[in-house]
Amino acid sequence: MVDIHTHILPGLDDGAKSLAEALEMARIAVADGVSALAATPHVVSGLYDNPPELIREEVDVLNRYLAEEGIPLPILPGAEYRLEPDLPQRLNQGQLVTINDTGRYLLVELPFSLVPDHTEQILYEIQLQGVVPIIAHPERNPGLIRNPERLFRLVQRGVLAQVTTSSIQGRFGKTVKRTALNMLETGTAQVVASDAHSTRGRSPATAAAAQEIEARWGAEFAQTVLSINPRRIIAGEMVEPVLPEPEVGFLARVWRSLSR
Ligand SMILES: [Fe+2]
Repeated sequence: MVDIHTHILPGLDDGAKSLAEALEMARIAVADGVSALAATPHVVSGLYDNPPELIREEVDVLNRYLAEEGIPLPILPGAEYRLEPDLPQRLNQGQLVTINDTGRYLLVELPFSLVPDHTEQILYEIQLQGVVPIIAHPERNPGLIRNPERLFRLVQRGVLAQVTTSSIQGRFGKTVKRTALNMLETGTAQVVASDAHSTRGRSPATAAAAQEIEARWGAEFAQTVLSINPRRIIAGEMVEPVLPEPEVGFLARVWRSLSR
C-alpha cells in the first residue's frame, strides 16, 4: 500500500512531535504493509507556513534517519494546503509542493465546518494549470456530509477525493463513517489514506480499514483505493474513476444514473 496523506514530519504542524515519534509512525506503517508514504504537513497561512524548501529538507532528513534505522519506507514530499483564495496564484509561482513533486496532484483541505462559496472557482483555477486537486477527508466536512452531491459534481469535473482510514473505522462517529463508505461506494472518493498524526488514534495503521473495505467490496477494490490509485498519484499518472463491484448498492446506482 501507499499512503498519500500523513503528518509524519516532526515539528512542522500538529503531527509527529519528535523524531522518535516519526520513526515509530514509520515502523507502524511498514508493519501494516505500507511501502511508501507522502509527508503532507499542513500549510495554513499565518499558522503553518511551511515553505516548500523546508518541507523538502525535512523529508531528506527523515529519509536519512530511516535509512540509518534500517526502516524500509521511502518518505515522499507533499503538503496539505488549506483552501485559500490565493492558492492558484501560489501554485503558479511555484510556491506549493505537489504530491511527490510530480507537478500533477495537490492535496487540498477545506475549512472544517463548511464549503466556501469560492471552492469550485479555486479548484478550477488549479486544474487550469494542469494540476489535479485531491480533496482531503471530505467525509468529515459537515457541508459535504449534508450535500455530498457538491463533491460528486467536482469529481465529475476531474477533482479527486481521499477518505481516511480512521473515518472508515468509526473514529469520528457513525455519520462520518457512513459518509466515507458512501463516498467510496459511489465513486465520489477514489483513494484511501491514513492522515496519520501520531502513533496512536490517528496512526498510520491501515490494515484494519483495508480489511473492512475488502470485506465490503472485495480485494480488488481495496487494492485499487489503497494501492493502485495512490501509486498512480505518486507517479504523477492518471487515476481512473472506479466503482466497487459486484455489490453495488442503491446509492451507487442512483449516482450512476445521475452521472450518465
Ligand atoms: Fe491531514
